[in-house]
Amino acid sequence: MVSIKIAAQPRKYTIEIGRSVSECGRWAKKCLGSEPKQIVLVSNKKVHGLYGDEVSTSLSSSGFRVSTWLMGDGERFKTLPSAEKLLAFLSANNLQRTDAIVALGGGVVGDLAGFAAAVYLRGISLLQIPTTLLAMIDASVGGKTGVNSPFGKNLVGAFHQPKGVLIDVAVLRTLPPREMTAGFCEAIKQGAIGSRELFDETAAFLSAPLGDPERHLNALIAKHIEFKARIVAGDERELSKRTDSRSRKILNFGHTLAHALEKATKYKHLRHGEAVGYGILFAAELSKSLDLFGEKDVELLNDVVHRAGSLPRLANIYEKEVVEAFRSDKKHLSGSLQMVLLRGIGKPVIVDENKIPKPVLKKVLNSFLQKWA
Ligand code: NAD
Ligand code: GLY
Repeated sequence: MVSIKIAAQPRKYTIEIGRSVSECGRWAKKCLGSEPKQIVLVSNKKVHGLYGDEVSTSLSSSGFRVSTWLMGDGERFKTLPSAEKLLAFLSANNLQRTDAIVALGGGVVGDLAGFAAAVYLRGISLLQIPTTLLAMIDASVGGKTGVNSPFGKNLVGAFHQPKGVLIDVAVLRTLPPREMTAGFCEAIKQGAIGSRELFDETAAFLSAPLGDPERHLNALIAKHIEFKARIVAGDERELSKRTDSRSRKILNFGHTLAHALEKATKYKHLRHGEAVGYGILFAAELSKSLDLFGEKDVELLNDVVHRAGSLPRLANIYEKEVVEAFRSDKKHLSGSLQMVLLRGIGKPVIVDENKIPKPVLKKVLNSFLQKWA
């Protein structure tokens, strides 16, 4: 088992990798102490059907009173109305300030449950049991919680660090291959901005895992979490004024185009991680056009993204819709989009969109959309 300490406010917490979900009761007791009496388990029908009984049994046998709230499956349920239903459930079950929420699921469940934990009675304890690769290496780490709204994705939320995260890669055996591809796209993103070593290790895993694949995956996940934890510890609140290569903003590498593609396709065509896969390839092309990044590295990124699996084509998505979505992102970011680009693998750089000549952006975007249509 690997244990990683995350330095965060208001306190450090531990991410345990390699512990079985069936042991989560003892783990919850260790993270929460003896005060909480009641736990609300938040999940969805699919994940709860697979792992809910194991988790509830283990929590109950450690002395917690457990009630379960299931949300709809998918991005379209990560909304304020869903959060309101969960808050009403917490209140109806008389959950106290000293009690806790356990999120069991992918990033959608984790973000919504985390948001409810952040705002219910001005904040109660949260534990995360991520069940997708994407949630294990990214969404469950770092304390961002939130919901989507009619005016954009993740624009309503709160920073609320969990009291602990438990990662059991055995649950990935039931994860559909497409979701694994999506998770690996986020892993490639982290490698591309993190370091040559993290990138190469991710690429090597995708070519051929060494020895026992689950052991190798545990080790790789631990490296990704260590990288994200370092960035979060240095810039927990993603300060607006920070534009250096170790600010939290670099974690948004690939996300400018990703959010635009998700929005343009009404969140139905692409998994979030797949959109990030396209986003990093686009950012690499743009970096090359600005003479920051070499052709060979662009080819390498393409190769590694395709080792993760195939991405759905981008048919019927046009420059106009993407630029429109960029504009709506920009509106919420003090009128200026900050693009995360690369000047080498592991060397991110934040460039204000105003510094990128419009014809260059337009040309790269058009040829990118045509190439993947
Ligand atoms: P998801 O939560 O929608 O899960 C993907 C699918 O896999 C769902 O259908 C789910 O029911 C199913 N599933 C989950 N675990 C399973 C398992 N073990 N076996 C079988 N099926 C399983 O998607 P995701 O990719 O995990 O998360 C995407 C979300 O995460 C987005 O909303 C994104 O905005 C958010 N996110 C948040 C952060 C953050 O820092 N908070 C970071 C990255 C992404
Ligand atoms: N996924 C981006 C962040 O956690 O900051």
